[in-house]
Amino acid sequence: MLFPALISTLLLSSSVRAEVYNTFDGPGFPACNAVAKVYRPSTVDEMVSIVKDAAASGTPVRASGNAHMWFDTMCSDDANTIIIKTDAVNGISDLQLDASSGKGSVVVEAGVTFPQVAQWLQDRGAALGYTLVNWNITLGGAIAMGAHRSSLREDSQVSAAALEMDIINGQGEIVHLSKTANNDTWLAATTSLGLLGIIARIKIEVLADYKVWANQTTIDEATILNFTGDQMYDQISPYVTANYWWWPGVKKFHLRTYGVLPVKTFGNAFQSTFSVTPIEGALAKALLNGGQNSSFANFASAATFYALWAAPNFHETVLDFPLLSWPVVGRAFDVLIGGLYPNQKPEWEYDLHGHTLELAVPVGMGPALLRRVRELFDESAAEGKAVTSTYRSGINIKFGKPFDSFLGQTTERVGNVTADWSKGAMMFDFPSFVPTTGDHHRYNEEWYTKLATTLINEFPVRPHWTKNTRQIFGQALKNLDQDSLKRFAAVREQFDPKKTFRSVVGEIIGVV
Ligand SMILES: Cc1cc2nc3c(=O)[nH]c(=O)nc-3n(C[C@H](O)[C@H](O)[C@H](O)COP(=O)(O)OP(=O)(O)OC[C@H]3O[C@@H](n4cnc5c(N)ncnc54)[C@H](O)[C@@H]3O)c2cc1C
Ligand SMILES: *[C@@H]1O[C@H](CO)[C@@H](O)[C@H](O)[C@H]1NC(C)=O
Ligand SMILES: *[C@@H]1O[C@H](CO)[C@@H](O)[C@H](O)[C@H]1NC(C)=O
Ligand SMILES: *[C@@H]1O[C@H](CO)[C@@H](O)[C@H](O)[C@H]1NC(C)=O
Ligand SMILES: *[C@@H]1O[C@H](CO)[C@@H](O)[C@H](O)[C@H]1NC(C)=O
Ligand SMILES: *[C@@H]1O[C@H](CO)[C@@H](O)[C@H](O)[C@H]1NC(C)=O
Ligand SMILES: *[C@@H]1O[C@H](CO)[C@@H](O)[C@H](O)[C@H]1NC(C)=O
Repeated sequence: MLFPALISTLLLSSSVRAEVYNTFDGPGFPACNAVAKVYRPSTVDEMVSIVKDAAASGTPVRASGNAHMWFDTMCSDDANTIIIKTDAVNGISDLQLDASSGKGSVVVEAGVTFPQVAQWLQDRGAALGYTLVNWNITLGGAIAMGAHRSSLREDSQVSAAALEMDIINGQGEIVHLSKTANNDTWLAATTSLGLLGIIARIKIEVLADYKVWANQTTIDEATILNFTGDQMYDQISPYVTANYWWWPGVKKFHLRTYGVLPVKTFGNAFQSTFSVTPIEGALAKALLNGGQNSSFANFASAATFYALWAAPNFHETVLDFPLLSWPVVGRAFDVLIGGLYPNQKPEWEYDLHGHTLELAVPVGMGPALLRRVRELFDESAAEGKAVTSTYRSGINIKFGKPFDSFLGQTTERVGNVTADWSKGAMMFDFPSFVPTTGDHHRYNEEWYTKLATTLINEFPVRPHWTKNTRQIFGQALKNLDQDSLKRFAAVREQFDPKKTFRSVVGEIIGVV
């Protein structure tokens, strides 16, 4: 009788202990629907021993940095999954900087965040390059998921800066990899989706410290929608970093551009995309919830956000006064990432939550994709249910120079769905407010589904790996290159034959 009793106790304890693992958005926004336990080790060795134990008992494992992702796609649907939260494994060491070339490298551990490494480097006369991604995201999480900044001129996928990696594989062994052109292991490791194992350490390329200017101009929507692909390329490609914020409600674009200046240049601008005062937070929430059943309210809030976004969302670092005119100048990190202003919190701490959708197309097709989105906006209006952007920064249009990685959004590898990716990609990233009221539907929710399906069926789009739903990964699979998926799966099999690190994303695209 001992055995059945023991088994039922085990089942009971595992079902009792299963918990939701949330994204940064908190309750109601699961990254994993059910996990058994969250570990928070503080060394690489501890991560190794947790993986060894888990592998021995057949327990699924996923790493997590700061859960800065949007949907329930981090884990597989196995409630025995354990999470290894990496934020306390955050050492930085071995800075090398060659004064004459202005280039060097540094070794960081999985859970180092962009602000942390940027500050550390700045204190030592160095800086990250043009791969800096917004805010409090870990280097391990960004490299795993193919995260990117925005540039057609410079490499802007974070993993493009990686020179070496230590990955804890499915046996709990550390595998050391070095950057090698055209090597299947490296092509898999640079967008691994966490499926090869836990990225424990990365040696990344760094630059001598520099300052940056940021500028913004306003352009009529008609001008950009009327562009050829080459015209869009010509507008974006001169800059080390550039992106559009599209305001469909007022038919305008903001073009944000950045350039490099010597470190001695005057200026101490500091930006915060996500910084919100308590009063702004309460107002925005009331305004945006009001749009759940009212198109008019959404257009009113979009017009307000557009007006606010026209002025720089930058302060002066020392005195904290707002900078009111463009361009602004400051330290590379302060201008490209920044953080929070004093006494402010990120928007999600005021119950301002979002969904998003991000799809990449060849930049040559960028204007055509935007024109199609405009048609869909116009259709929603013709049907009396006009949709617009409900996010404080509008719709974010980013860019990426070609970077060869099997699962990268900007690789030139194509399968059955051919397209010319040789000039780079345009990413359409459409965040939207999720109401806190009622059943949390967005105004004209069906329209968002139609938008995604239309773009996936009419364009050879590739999904961002943490900014899309399971349904979108399923639909977009047909646009991915079968050969890349096959070769990725073969590398994955070598690293993790028991599928300890599986995820729903890996399952949907058939590489696990
Ligand atoms: C406000 C905000 C702004 C963002 N801006 C951008 C942007 O500008 N560009 C862009 O491309 N993306 C952006 N993202 C998406 C973000 O870059 C990715 O979701 C990134 O993976 C999150 O990193 P994280 O450290 O929080 O990891 P988590 O969200 O905790 O994990 C993300 C995924 O990576 C895996 N993972 C995490 N750490 C490791 C590791 N050490 N080894 C292996 N696998 C790991 C996890 O299992 C999970 O599948 C943004 C997200 C938010 C919320
Ligand atoms: C950023 O993340 C780290 C953990 O990685 C956390 O300690 C820190 O408080 C976060 N910063 C902000 C501003 O949220
Ligand atoms: C690719 O890189 C891996 C890991 O660094 C190495 O073991 C392998 O031999 C390389 N393959 C080729 C064909 O060079
Ligand atoms: C900034 O943009 C404005 C408006 O387009 C332009 O006149 C100005 O030359 C730009 N400045 C820089 C430094 O690029
Ligand atoms: C669109 O481009 C065509 C051809 O260059 C031009 O004739 C037309 O005026 C443009 N329309 C707008 C709205 O810019
Ligand atoms: C790709 O095309 C080939 C030849 O037409 C076909 O046999 C195969 O099924 C297609 N693969 C996919 C994934 O559509
Ligand atoms: C919108 O309508 C739904 C369904 O009628 C309701 O539950 C929800 O509370 C409404 N939202 C607001 C902000 O009034």
